[in-house]
Amino acid sequence: MSVRLKINGRWITAERGQTVLEAARANGIEIPTLCDYPGLPSHGSCRMCIVEIEGRANTPTACTTPVDDGMVVETDTAKVRELRQDLLRMLLAEHPAACLFCPENQACEECMVTLRKAGVTTGCHNCPADRQCSLQKIIEDSGLQSIAYPPRYRALRVEKYDPFFDRDYNLCVLCGRCIRVCESLHFTNILTYARRGSQTRVDTSFGRTHLEAGCSFCGACIDACPTGALWEKTRKWYGAPDGEVASVCPFCSLGCEIRLVHKNGSVIGALPGEGLPALCVKGRFGVPELVNHPDRLKDVLHVSAGEAVKSDWNEASRLAAEVLSGCAPDDFALIVSANCSSEDFYVANKFTRQVMRSAPVYLSAAARYRGGGQASARLLALSQPLEALESADLIFCLGLDAQYYQSVVEPRLRQAKERGAKLLTIHAGEHVPGRFADVWLQPQPFSEGEMINDLAEGRDDRGQLGAALHLLSEARKPVLIVGPDYLARLPEAVERLQKAAGAGLVALPAEGNLMGSLRAGIGAAPAGRLPRVLYLIGAALPHDLPGDSFVLIQNTHALQAELPHLFHEGLMLPMAAFSETDGSLVDQSGKMKCYSAAAAPPGEALPGWKILCQIAQALGKPGFDYGCVDDIRAEMAGQAAERPEISSPPEWIAAPGEHDYHGAPLDKWVAGLGDLQPSPQEEGLRVPVA
Ligand code: FES
Repeated sequence: MSVRLKINGRWITAERGQTVLEAARANGIEIPTLCDYPGLPSHGSCRMCIVEIEGRANTPTACTTPVDDGMVVETDTAKVRELRQDLLRMLLAEHPAACLFCPENQACEECMVTLRKAGVTTGCHNCPADRQCSLQKIIEDSGLQSIAYPPRYRALRVEKYDPFFDRDYNLCVLCGRCIRVCESLHFTNILTYARRGSQTRVDTSFGRTHLEAGCSFCGACIDACPTGALWEKTRKWYGAPDGEVASVCPFCSLGCEIRLVHKNGSVIGALPGEGLPALCVKGRFGVPELVNHPDRLKDVLHVSAGEAVKSDWNEASRLAAEVLSGCAPDDFALIVSANCSSEDFYVANKFTRQVMRSAPVYLSAAARYRGGGQASARLLALSQPLEALESADLIFCLGLDAQYYQSVVEPRLRQAKERGAKLLTIHAGEHVPGRFADVWLQPQPFSEGEMINDLAEGRDDRGQLGAALHLLSEARKPVLIVGPDYLARLPEAVERLQKAAGAGLVALPAEGNLMGSLRAGIGAAPAGRLPRVLYLIGAALPHDLPGDSFVLIQNTHALQAELPHLFHEGLMLPMAAFSETDGSLVDQSGKMKCYSAAAAPPGEALPGWKILCQIAQALGKPGFDYGCVDDIRAEMAGQAAERPEISSPPEWIAAPGEHDYHGAPLDKWVAGLGDLQPSPQEEGLRVPVA
């Protein structure tokens, strides 16, 4: 039911049950807030949003006051302004204020000059949130000109021992947003208020590090912090970014939408896409370190007799054309990473068919699926999006860890539990769903397949599967959610269980664009011998290359520092990262997601498809003159999608790990990922099986 109320002299319509703040915002009327945060219930603790309401003697908070018919509200009277300034004066008694009342604070850039002929840091970098701080903005808007009370610097130690972000509670205003986001949106309680009275501060329980407290490093607390108290290490002193570009995280098959933050032509951070509460640690903190890593391949290199010499694209394309023109189809193979874009896959496939006369194109990830690629492909074809969990009455997690990678699944599992769904999980080790599952089946490592087969056939020879079988038999809408390891190792057993239970299925491959590669027909090549000429796109070098091999390495990074010494002849071709080119991925549910360049590629690097086109053109092949990805997409749209298939690749292809990106583990490029450890077990009925 709607009501009419007047705010600042303007009649507006609102829904009964809305707060004055919500109604004002919906009508473009700004009211300052600090403790309010999207998705969280009103807290009413900061009192920044006070207003005057006709007929009421006090100044209620707009975020906790429901609208009423005929209500007359004023948000910016002299009384409100004076009270708000008083509140801010009290806040500033404990909050550093150098950035607020400096006469030069609008002209920092001009003040940062120096005559010294050496690299020095100039300007007063007092706070990482300068020009991005909600408190700073509120104070500027309020017209406050100075502090009123003697400042008390809390002199708290800046906590720097967690891998991805620093905590400076000297800058905290105790709005509680970080605590409430962790608790209400993520259903975890890593943060809490510690101590009492003037000593109150935000901390983890018992003063543990985030790592010790079991934090999954989703970064939601940083996003919620209105000041500089929580700040990611990699962009702490960059200042306000130049902008954001909508993109897609390529680090796993969920393809979460992200916003790439850039400054001075470089990507400096990644934030969750609009409407997403959080990302996993890889997506939230991994991107800037990966794309700005010193090991990025920037130059075109010609490797001759084991020595790498700087070359250029003309020379490299000419040399590649010379080698490939004299190469028989069975003397050549192209191996491509499943993290490349769909456009790269399309052009790579076309290259092998049209330029190399149907030479094989392999997917390096297929080597992880050697145990049953066909069954994995069938499961992928059935895979639904995560939203399928919302209507399930039983969720069965199969080998899903969700501690750090694919951790965006955890809040969905917790939400399902809150609404009454049962949770069953099978995993040999400590894992997140095991903390709150109704039943945790814990088989011995590598006997999981046997247990899944027993469940599919309703067998309980050891008398340990009773509770799980009961849940499965009671469920009317079961959904299986399959983690990367079981999808690669145990697809036949999972398929049997899915059919027996008549369950929906959510498959979560580790690779960013496995679905896109299968649709492009990559991964279905028959196994062949190790050829003389190898073209590796984001794939690792096979072991024991014959001495007369010629290797074209097209990658974003130099995988091994000594790489030129591992082969005698070849080329190293620098490839743009996903953040430096336009492209698209297909997520685990088959949905195409497009991304755009947020920065220029470093040095000579080019988009993957463009490098292939240059070589094809040097060979005089027509049909490789695309101007941009839209030209490729237009051609792709006219072709029938291939039937997803993963055939066993030859033994000589190096199998990537679950957390590999373009041929190497992601923690090779992202320092903090190596510090992550499994967290301790909590509740859950655990059923160990001998
Ligand atoms: Fe209303 Fe904080 S925003 S009291």
